[in-house]
Amino acid sequence: MNKLKIAIQKEGRLSEKSLELIQESGIRHNQDSKRKLISLGENFPVEILYLRDDDIPQYVADGVADIGIVGENEVMEKDRNVDTVERLGFARCRLSLAIPQSDVYTGLAYFNGKRIATSYPTILKKYLKINNLDAEIHEISGSVEIAPGIGLADAIFDIVSTGSTLIHNRLREVEVITRSEAVVIASPTINEGKKRILNDLLFRFQAVRKSKNNKYILLNAPNENLDKIVSLLPGMKSPTVLPLYEKGWSSVHSVVNENEFWEIIGKLKEFGAEGILVIPIEKMIV
Ligand code: PRP
Repeated sequence: MNKLKIAIQKEGRLSEKSLELIQESGIRHNQDSKRKLISLGENFPVEILYLRDDDIPQYVADGVADIGIVGENEVMEKDRNVDTVERLGFARCRLSLAIPQSDVYTGLAYFNGKRIATSYPTILKKYLKINNLDAEIHEISGSVEIAPGIGLADAIFDIVSTGSTLIHNRLREVEVITRSEAVVIASPTINEGKKRILNDLLFRFQAVRKSKNNKYILLNAPNENLDKIVSLLPGMKSPTVLPLYEKGWSSVHSVVNENEFWEIIGKLKEFGAEGILVIPIEKMIV
């Protein structure tokens, strides 16, 4: 029987969230020890391979894994023949150029004649070429931020998430070159059977993501403002409105997007809504 081989990061910034997404998608698997490098889905036809994130694009391109959950930074850097089939919205970060805090930044020309340390030489090389800059790329595989402090480089090009590693190493982000988040990549050559499993899996991933981005909301609304309140809460199709035992009041149930949440709550209160309850949604299928 067809099994979809999924490569995920063994350890690091994506590993925990990738496993969480798989688990929340209802897939049980037998990873009984951290040392185990492969686990089998018990109720869904998948095999999970635990790999280094910078190897994942290559494994997917070679068909060793059918799909991978990996940072776009690695997809861009490795530049292999893989299709990005879904964006996952976690592990968001920037890839930026940073210089010592004590240096005066004069714009991109600052980098001419400088040595830049990075683990992302391909992306940096392209950027330097496009901008006609003549800098020396110093490739190192980790702890890039210490390079200027120990005299190995003048500047760095690396992942920035919270920015605290830069601050700790007295560096300053001066140019954001590109942005990244976790994505699902797939081998362009997977067979029809595996494609069906992949579509089912992506459907589950989307349901989990939508549920995280939305909240279920219940409130009591005075009937005279019901239309105004309902217009703020479009819901999945339209809100549910039920009469309350107390005359002149209704109960309204709907779904709101997390990003609009606080703005909507403010307006609901202005229109006299009371007893507002906001509840997390476990899965959402539209
Ligand atoms: C990355 C990157 C930085 C750090 C930035 O390292 O190399 O060191 O995150 O994050 P911050 O802006 O939140 O401080 P990571 O821990 O992912 O390990 P890696 O170097 O092996 O990629």
